[in-house]
Amino acid sequence: QLRNPEALESCRPTKPGGKIVLVTGTGGFVGYHAALALRRRGDGVLGLDNFNSYYPVNLKRAREASLKDEGVITLEADLNDDSALSAAFDLCNFTHVLNLAAQAGVRYATKDPGSYIKSNVAGFVKLLEVVKLREPMPRVVYASSSSVYGMNTKVPFSESDPVDLPASLYAATKREDELLAVTYNHIYGIAMTGLRFFTVYGPFGRPDMAMFAFSNKIMKGEPVEIFQGPGGSELERDFTYIDDIVQGCLAAIDHIGPSNKSTAPLKVYNIGNSHPENVTYIVDLLDEFLGKKAVRKYKPMPPTGDVLRTNANTSLAQQELGYKPSTSLRNGVRKFVNWYQEFYRDGLDAGMMSYQPL
Ligand code: NAD
Ligand code: UGA
Repeated sequence: QLRNPEALESCRPTKPGGKIVLVTGTGGFVGYHAALALRRRGDGVLGLDNFNSYYPVNLKRAREASLKDEGVITLEADLNDDSALSAAFDLCNFTHVLNLAAQAGVRYATKDPGSYIKSNVAGFVKLLEVVKLREPMPRVVYASSSSVYGMNTKVPFSESDPVDLPASLYAATKREDELLAVTYNHIYGIAMTGLRFFTVYGPFGRPDMAMFAFSNKIMKGEPVEIFQGPGGSELERDFTYIDDIVQGCLAAIDHIGPSNKSTAPLKVYNIGNSHPENVTYIVDLLDEFLGKKAVRKYKPMPPTGDVLRTNANTSLAQQELGYKPSTSLRNGVRKFVNWYQEFYRDGLDAGMMSYQPL
């Protein structure tokens, strides 16, 4: 795939001084949007994804095709394939890596724990092993997660809060990424910035996540199961719109200092919305925008690793990166629903309605 001249063209910046970025996970939700935004502002971008079938692959292919229309090529390869990674680095001489490839999803980790270790831990190590050999070494921005705050109950979450009580294996692997970042920064001087994203939603979103899965249920007339905490309490999430997440990714890429054997930067930031809401409110908004009432079924949260609430303190990202989320949940859900309805109208939904996330 890399011999195709389009791949070289893809990683060539279209503006003077543009960066050259390897974006992993471009078949995925956040990687797709981030790669598009980088390309549109003139950076060179090569995507990478293994197109796994955790959720329907036709959605990943639709993202890939949309990226290709804008000149971004996605190399189909696994993070664990170090020869494919090395060939990509040889071709493009990346200045930056944005690592978004991962086995995502909190609850599925009880079903297939090995896939999290393989992609999020072993795959990340493979990537860093390739990065450390480059001269000069690229700078690395990677996805962490709000889930690292785990059983910490003090909100809002700040970067200095304890992160040693992961409630899910997914969270434990995301925390492991942050620890690996410390080690590779310390030994090799790789510049590393971790971004703790908070429950991301929007167009081209993930069908395993609540907003998309609830929409499918509402359209099918099936009950939406709303999980509750102890005593029937509501779960709260700091739902964050994709454009704000992308803004955080680009700002992190622009602010990260160079890799350097002695003084390379090492940072972690919350990238959230700072306006947590009850999960029920999402169902209210979906009812309104889809124009169809959900059948609501409340049930105690299953023992699959969810936390009771998330809420980001984003002042560090604001001070150091200029990050400022700007999309209200109401406007964001409206945009999601517009896309969702178009997606189904265009017949890109094969397999989506019958897909059952954990
Ligand atoms: P996603 O599942 O849509 O995208 C991840 C992509 O990575 C997928 O297309 C998958 O095929 C690919 N992938 C998985 N393992 C791979 C491997 N070993 N090699 C190559 N490709 C591989 O998920 P997303 O929502 O876009 O998440 C992006 C990142 O952000 C992930 O690291 C995730 O853990 C993190 N994150 C997401 C959210 C969220 O709410 N979406 C919140 C916090 C953190
Ligand atoms: C999401 C992503 O799936 C993770 O990859 C990510 O790391 C995490 O955000 C994060 O912020 O770090 P989650 O918050 O569980 O995880 O996102 P959703 O699947 O969209 O769930 C949102 C809320 O709806 C949760 O409180 C969940 O318990 C609830 N939910 C989910 C239900 O009430 N019913 C369901 O059937 C599914």
